[in-house]
Amino acid sequence: MSRTKSHYVCQACGTSHPKWVGRCDACGEWNSLVEEELASTPGGLKKSASARGRAIAFQSLEGESQPLPRRTSGIAEFDRVPGGGLVPGSAVLVGGDPGIGKSTLLLQAVAAMAAGAGKIPCLYISGEEAIDQVRLRARRMGLEKAPVGLAAATSVRDIAASLEGVEAPGVVVIDSIQTMYVDNLDSAPGTVAQVRASAQALIKLAKERGFSLVLVGHVTKEGVIAGPKVLEHMVDTVLYFEGERGHQFRILRAVKNRFGPTDEIGVFEMTDRGLEEVANPSALFLADRQGQVSGAAVFAGMEGTRPVLVEVQALVSASQLATPRRAVVGWDSARLSMVLAVLEARCGLMLGGKEVYLNVAGGLKVGEPACDLAVAAALISAASDNPVPEDCVVFGEIGLSGEVRAVGQSEARLKEAEKLGFAAAILPEGRGRKVKGSATLQRREIGHLRDLVAMIAGRAPRRQLEDA
Ligand code: TYD
Ligand code: MG
Repeated sequence: MSRTKSHYVCQACGTSHPKWVGRCDACGEWNSLVEEELASTPGGLKKSASARGRAIAFQSLEGESQPLPRRTSGIAEFDRVPGGGLVPGSAVLVGGDPGIGKSTLLLQAVAAMAAGAGKIPCLYISGEEAIDQVRLRARRMGLEKAPVGLAAATSVRDIAASLEGVEAPGVVVIDSIQTMYVDNLDSAPGTVAQVRASAQALIKLAKERGFSLVLVGHVTKEGVIAGPKVLEHMVDTVLYFEGERGHQFRILRAVKNRFGPTDEIGVFEMTDRGLEEVANPSALFLADRQGQVSGAAVFAGMEGTRPVLVEVQALVSASQLATPRRAVVGWDSARLSMVLAVLEARCGLMLGGKEVYLNVAGGLKVGEPACDLAVAAALISAASDNPVPEDCVVFGEIGLSGEVRAVGQSEARLKEAEKLGFAAAILPEGRGRKVKGSATLQRREIGHLRDLVAMIAGRAPRRQLEDA
């Protein structure tokens, strides 16, 4: 006679334990273990009379494969991020802070797919909002005529049963995975076991019936998708929808993608009629730029294949504190410390006793090391009270000895700068290889950070840098 075995799963990290313990030894969380039946996990290996598996035929790496079919919405900023539309039978997880606009984005996307030329049958299943609330939102955005099937449900069994009956849908949105539950587990919706089991059942269904599954995932305080990390492993694509609450810009970013690149972004603006595409993000991010002020530098960045120009702002002020404050918005604080240390040790620009604030204007989060030189330019400019040369973009990576290193895609960066009316660029010294691109853009090549200090602070400083 077989006995159903159970194990204990940590709700914080997803580690499985054979026995109950008060504290998970993997992540150190107290009282986080919940009993789970081993056999009840959908997709798990079921005991059968013929316990032997069947032999798999191995294939060679080389071979003909068809390009993946894609389901597109016609919203270019949305379609680009997963790699040119949604792949049939795949699962996409969309994470983001509450209220950032995930439900709005996905409702708009399915409405566009359903009403568009492809007439893709789409279902939107909400576990968080009542039908009326979703309808109200659709009306506000002028989408109420789109033929999207709407349901409010939280039981995965019910959802699976309903999908059996209907003609195979093209896209199914589940808003959100944390509200779904499978009834053969005792734990509450939102627990690791439920999230995992629900996702597993829905993903299996998507693969069998060939629809594109879009799961909305909540984000915890720490900024990761709530639930086990395994959720991110289970899906094919993970997208994050991010933005600063006070700003109307929203950025859809791929962080994992089995069917396309992971560095593409889609830029939207939240308006009173839903999200609007931003085809030219640089113009938007630079819209509020002040002219010749100190402490600002325009960084010519790349987001995937797209050049994006943003303004980096720095403020350097006297401090009363023993440990002066350092605050960063939109960039890595460890990298700021590094740039400050290089400026101090290699260029003699003493900022150790000063408060330093750094901000990437517009709510964009920059992750590229190529931003180092723009940050340094903003800092030197703020400290010396001299503006960075007018109409000038900056990019380049800084090494620990103060050398300025070449970065990729210089050509695209320069082209974008020229398109937006910039006259000059501060960039790493061409290492023998001349960067092609614009003819009119004046190039100021920098080999060492010292040259940048001389260029910005050296010319008739209005204020002494610091007397240390
Ligand atoms: P929502 O899509 O509900 O966010 P999420 O699903 O990520 O929690 O978006 C809610 C916010 O968006 C809410 O604060 C109101 C705002 N919003 C607009 O500004 N304009 C609109 O047209 C809509 C539908 C929402
Ligand atoms: Mg929502």
